[in-house]
Amino acid sequence: MNDRTVVRTGVTLAVIAALCTALVAATYQLTRDRIAANEKALLEQSLQPALAGVFFDSGVSESRLVLAPPHGLPGNDAAVIYRVFANEQPVAALFAVTARDGFSGPIRILLGLSFDGRITGVRILQHRETPGLGDKIESTRSGWVFQFDDRSMGDPLVTGWAIRSDGGEFDQLTGASVTPRAVVKAIRDTLIYFDDHRDEIFLAAATKEDE
Ligand SMILES: Cc1cc2nc3c(=O)[nH]c(=O)nc-3n(C[C@H](O)[C@H](O)[C@H](O)COP(=O)(O)O)c2cc1C
Repeated sequence: MNDRTVVRTGVTLAVIAALCTALVAATYQLTRDRIAANEKALLEQSLQPALAGVFFDSGVSESRLVLAPPHGLPGNDAAVIYRVFANEQPVAALFAVTARDGFSGPIRILLGLSFDGRITGVRILQHRETPGLGDKIESTRSGWVFQFDDRSMGDPLVTGWAIRSDGGEFDQLTGASVTPRAVVKAIRDTLIYFDDHRDEIFLAAATKEDE
């Protein structure tokens, strides 16, 4: 191979590399916005079931507050609060919190509360509980989680916020009381937190996307 051939081959390879890089960059630009929109739609979709009966005109996930531990809510990891508005007035808050004492580890819970502290829905976001036993906390596996709808701190009183075998008002699961005990406790503690911090929750500045 003479010098001219070497140079020509080098230039050809460099041009091909530049074209490939430009193609990848253009594809990234074109798909980035669509991916972000899809992710947002998915998030909104997963949050909405915990907002039954709430009229709102804000995006569910638009006004997000991320609280690093220690924050006073259940769990040692970050707690996320999504504030929801109608006519720019606060109408509800969604809490993503963690019950630490599940049978097989932490249980991530989504709890929706109307501004006046009524439960608008509970959903289990993540858990490692046993199939057929503790996994009945999932809304797709049993109706267990629906017993909290419309309840609040006061209905029942704080002592009633426990499973029946602990003297409270809420059903456990047959052969599995560890999992429901953990979830009920986390819901109770979130209700107490909301009662104590409602005004500051709605006044706090939203956490930026990259925080
Ligand atoms: C293999 C195995 C898996 C279990 N998984 C769970 C579970 O996911 N959640 C739970 O609460 N209890 C689970 N249990 C049962 C607990 O050990 C405990 O006995 C039970 O929660 C007590 O409930 P009870 O008071 O209704 O009997 C499991 C037990 C075994 C042997």
